[in-house]
Amino acid sequence: GSGGGTTSAGTGGGGDAITMGFSQVGAESGWRTANTKSVQDSAKNAGVTLKFSDAQQKQENQIKAIRSYIQQKVDVIAFSPVVESGWDTVLKEAQNAKIPVILTDRAVDSKDTSLYKTFLGSDFIEEGKKAGQWLTEEYKDSKDTVNIVELQGTTGSAPANDRKAGFQEVIQGEPKFRVIASQTGDFTRAKGKEVMEAFLKSNPDIDVLYAHNDDMGLGAIEAIEGAGKVPGKDIKIITVDAVKDGMQALADGKINFIVECSPLLGPQLMDLAKKVLKGEQVPTRVVTEETTFTQEQAKQALSSRQY
Ligand code: AHR
Repeated sequence: GSGGGTTSAGTGGGGDAITMGFSQVGAESGWRTANTKSVQDSAKNAGVTLKFSDAQQKQENQIKAIRSYIQQKVDVIAFSPVVESGWDTVLKEAQNAKIPVILTDRAVDSKDTSLYKTFLGSDFIEEGKKAGQWLTEEYKDSKDTVNIVELQGTTGSAPANDRKAGFQEVIQGEPKFRVIASQTGDFTRAKGKEVMEAFLKSNPDIDVLYAHNDDMGLGAIEAIEGAGKVPGKDIKIITVDAVKDGMQALADGKINFIVECSPLLGPQLMDLAKKVLKGEQVPTRVVTEETTFTQEQAKQALSSRQY
């Protein structure tokens, strides 16, 4: 191939002999499953030997995995940090071992940005803003109060922090928008359902649900239907991701708007890893390109959706 081989012990097969240790967040959502597949498939296509571990949404598991990759002397470490803070120590250990680190999907809040080479992933603040913009447009002619409930992603994670902040930034200028309840649903369907059931019990008058991902939104739809209400009509729903199940619910009229977040980061990740290992300059931030979908657009896009 044309890619950059390095000094790693070869794994046979004669191509580029890069070994990457990848610490994944977990398997919490359809998005995550698609992201894992993208990383695994792209590693194969790029001739990269992948050591993969699933942290089950626990930071301590990720730290353990990263330490084990350091011990195994992999060429490059990539990971999607479950939460934003608390990474400096382990990232210093990687730096001392001269193993470059690439952040994928989620950011860390470390002040020392020399601890990683680049960060590849979405702009989650922008995603939150897009959700807020749809809402302000949808209710632009209404003077009534709009009661919103929010299902947040995993507590302390970049997408939960930023999707909340971006949304807030857009709606805060208009007092008619009221977030009457906001709680984490851990980015899972089961928790989304459970928390939405609780929301429905304590708030008889919910107009809008903003869920930080499709899976929580899909769980919430079950709760809403279980309470005898019509999702998409009685309660309007905005989610983030645009995985197939979400797009199907959007096309069916149960979700009203989805902000896309692309999980297909694998090819760019392998590319960046090769460049870093060749000593080439890479941008410190690579932002994923993404769009938004209305119900009509979902009907069009559904058949060609890969994940
Ligand atoms: O970090 C990306 C987020 O993590 C996705 O939006 C969510 O579905 C996943 O669990």
